[in-house]
Amino acid sequence: MSISKTLMVVAALSLSAAPVFAGGHGGNPAVKARQSHMQLYAHNLGIIGGMARGKVEYDADAAQAAANNLAALSTLNQRSYWVPGTTTAELGDETRALPAIFEAGSTAAAIGGQLAEAAAALAAVAGDGQAALGPALGPVGGACGACHEKYQQPRN
Ligand code: HEC
Repeated sequence: MSISKTLMVVAALSLSAAPVFAGGHGGNPAVKARQSHMQLYAHNLGIIGGMARGKVEYDADAAQAAANNLAALSTLNQRSYWVPGTTTAELGDETRALPAIFEAGSTAAAIGGQLAEAAAALAAVAGDGQAALGPALGPVGGACGACHEKYQQPRN
């Protein structure tokens, strides 16, 4: 490859890579990471929720895979993206994480532990048939909701 062609390729690569290093549209990387984590929760929960409500035909393998993902996600160490200084108080509309999540007395970590327990229980029965999904899904959705109620700014 000629030098000028090589340089063009390098330039194209660095152009396309730039948004990744800058954190997408200039967003705070911690906020983006935790919002992405939440999107993965929602995606997997949605698969199981659809089957639990009978909107999507039950598929044991798909239910098991989504439940395993939820269980795995809920046990990831998230400390690098839940960091003080990245709440609505400092970043405004860029995030919906309320300052209380990092204040003394925050129950966020405990709720995270409840989610992990509920997700493990769901994963233990997700392959057992459609009827098993609803009862096991309740505590999972309950943990999501409990944390949002306290620590997520409602949409305007
Ligand atoms: C320990 C607290 C906690 C738990 C547990 C939790 N969330 Fe969240 N969630 C938050 C906070 C705080 C935000 C706002 C994050 C931000 O904007 O920086 C959020 C944001 C979200 C968002 C919006 C993401 C975006 O792109 O802006 C979705 C969707 C979501 N959560 C789904 C879920 C689901 C589904 C579960 C359960 C499986 C769950 N969350 C469990 C605290 C939690």
